[in-house]
Formats: sequence, structure tokens, C-alpha cells
Amino acid sequence: MPVNLNLDHITESISLEECHQQLVDSKFDPNDEESFISVAPSLKKLNNNRTFLADILIQELEDHCTNQEKSNTYTPQVIMLKPAEKDLNFFMRANIWLPKSDPLLQASGEKSFFYRVPHDHNFNFLTTGYMGSGYHSDYYEYDYEKVVGFPGEVANLRFVEHKQLSLGQTMLYRAYKDVHNQLPADDLSVTLNVMPATMFNHLRPQYIFNEQCNKVERTTVTTNSSVEPTLQLIAQCGGEKGRDFITRMATNSVIDENRFSAIKTLTSVQRSTDGKANVLEQYGLASSSELVREMSKVHLHALSLG
Ligand SMILES: [Fe+2]
Repeated sequence: MPVNLNLDHITESISLEECHQQLVDSKFDPNDEESFISVAPSLKKLNNNRTFLADILIQELEDHCTNQEKSNTYTPQVIMLKPAEKDLNFFMRANIWLPKSDPLLQASGEKSFFYRVPHDHNFNFLTTGYMGSGYHSDYYEYDYEKVVGFPGEVANLRFVEHKQLSLGQTMLYRAYKDVHNQLPADDLSVTLNVMPATMFNHLRPQYIFNEQCNKVERTTVTTNSSVEPTLQLIAQCGGEKGRDFITRMATNSVIDENRFSAIKTLTSVQRSTDGKANVLEQYGLASSSELVREMSKVHLHALSLG
């Protein structure tokens, strides 16, 4: 369960600029839970400011969303408040949580808004309920180190509780520990987040679990681009140089999933069944990575080769 921080006694209100400056001055370490928690009062003070977010939105709409276009790579669910900057290890954002009754939610589907997509995070972050009654969550915990991460793996999540992120409530989500299955808010809700902007978190995967919350469904964004279509293109148009590159990636990439994507590509360009099986055995089943071995077994099975 994320660490629930009781900050109800803080009634002071500050501007976004003041909050940002306090976070900069604190030199907090987002990889350290205690250090991250130490800046939660600043976020709570910003949360007490009832007008700043509307002011930002008015300004953005008047300026044709110039700032958002420059700095926001998220889906429209997110409003960038303070983007990552050189020499800063955090950024700030607001998230919009649509209620079940919203036509946009109904048209796009709940998963487009991360509802009913149980997941953990590979980073700590602070969140606070800014508007509305808040999204619902089923919270779970699990042992990250015991999970290899291949699709279908039993993950042994332990249900902790069901909770709504209510107005003014501030919590620290803990990397690799807390899993939540978010469910639609009852009314339009907004959260404010302090997020880490660190370089290496993405090298360790975060997981999406199945709806029953007992198995790994897949990992998420350990890289920022779609690797597989790119590798397919290289395999088909890159000649010998392309094959060499993919082979090196299949054996040497520091990201296990990329290694597997490369193996999958090498397999797909083999015409014969024997050729496919050989590639999967040579690079996949013999890999030093347990994740690569397990994913290769699943793939072998999917191709009816194993
Ligand atoms: Fe989440």
C-alpha cells in the first residue's frame, strides 16, 4: 500500500512557482522514500491553492496550448505543470480522472485512461487528490525480486485494500512494491504528482498484471519507442549489416526485453521451421537472462515449435 501521509494540519497555500522552488531547494532524492516524503508538505501546500490549475488552463487555452505542446508527451489525461529540466531530478504534472459516465471515457474505453490496468511503477512518486472524490484503487503488494517478468507468470500479488484517493489525501507510491488496479472515479477528479526525472529507472521493467491480479500480463515501456517494428525494418532492408546489428542486440543489449525483441526478429526472418527453432534455441533458450529464456519458451510454444 502506498505510504499515506497525514498532512491535514497543513493549511498554508502556495503558488506553483513557490512549490517548485521549494522542491528545487530541498535537493530531495526521488529514489529514496524518506527523502521523497520530506517534500510532501510542499505538494500539500500547492494542493491547498484552489485556483492555480484553472489559471494555468486558462493561460494555455489563450496561448493555443503552447507550453503543453512544448513539454507534454503524455496523453490528454495529463497536464504538464513543470517539465523536467537540465540538472533537476523531478517534474510536476496534473492528471485528470474521468468518471465512468463521461462520454469520452465511454467512447475510448476505460483502459485508455489506465482504469482496470493493474500495474506497479519502477519509480517512486508523490500524488495528492486535488479535485473530485478521486479514483478508486484496489491495492496490492508483491515481491518484485521474485518475479522474472514473462507473460503468464504467476506473480503472487497480495491484496491490501480498496481505497479512494480523496481530496487533500497525499501518498507516496513506492517503486517495485505497490501495485494498483485503478477504477473510474465517481466524478471528475484531478491529482497532482511530483514525478522523478532520473535516467536509469527504465532499465528495470514495471509490470502490467492481468485483471484477476494474479499473473504478469506484460512489461511496460522499458524503452521509449516501439523496438520491434524498427528491428523488422532493419532486418528486411538492412542487409548483412542489419542482421549483424540485430544479432549483437540479441546477445548484448542491457535491456532483456530488447534482447528478446531482437531474437524474435531473427526468428521471424527465418523461412523454415527448423531455422526458427534453431534461432530460438541458440539465442533464446541458451541466454544468460532468465527473462529471455522464459519469453523464448513462450514464443516457441506460440509458434508451435516447442
Ligand atoms: Fe499507477
